[in-house]
Amino acid sequence: MEIVELIVTSFYLIIPAYFANMAPVIFAKAGWLKFLDLPIDGGKTMGNERLFGSGKTWRGLVSAIILGILIAGIQAFLYQYETFKNISLFDYPSNYLWFGFLAGLGAILGDLVKSFFKRRLNIASGRPWIIFDQLDFVAGFFIFTWIVVQTDWTIVATVCLITVILHPLTNISAYFLHLKKVWW
Ligand code: CTP
Ligand code: MG
Repeated sequence: MEIVELIVTSFYLIIPAYFANMAPVIFAKAGWLKFLDLPIDGGKTMGNERLFGSGKTWRGLVSAIILGILIAGIQAFLYQYETFKNISLFDYPSNYLWFGFLAGLGAILGDLVKSFFKRRLNIASGRPWIIFDQLDFVAGFFIFTWIVVQTDWTIVATVCLITVILHPLTNISAYFLHLKKVWW
């Protein structure tokens, strides 16, 4: 694969996870699924710290799955066009429900597992933990979607590289759009 094709293909694959990762903030801002705005850990602690923290809610988890499936559904629709079929790594129309679900769930569970370790290391909710904050959802995405698409390491490495570059840019944008309170 030539370099441009590699970048475009990698980006296209990870898009549902990007949306899943942004879903909690979007749903919170829009006021959707308010009844699910409850911490996953139910306030439970381990040692002196919360299990996950107040920033990890059921709304965040459910919203990630919803956007994962929605975006994968759009990709399934686009599959009929040559341009999109050429950058697709698998047959979206027959796998999008499963893929979208796993992409959303994997991304948000990667984020949740990361928060578990942040709390054990006494890093407060919302405080940065460089690289782990950036790649938590990417790791979760690849582990969970492995069932549907077995990507080779060049794609995984390219996704990591693209994400490390794009993540700070999206966070800074979200901060200026008043979607996030902190710029990281
Ligand atoms: N969020 C949520 N449920 C999730 C993940 C995120 O409701 N499962 C919302 C919370 O409002 C959270 C915001 O999205 O504050 C930003 O998410 P993130 O940066 O992942 O959480 P932090 O609050 O920074 O917590 P942590 O330090 O554990 O990463
Ligand atoms: Mg954070």
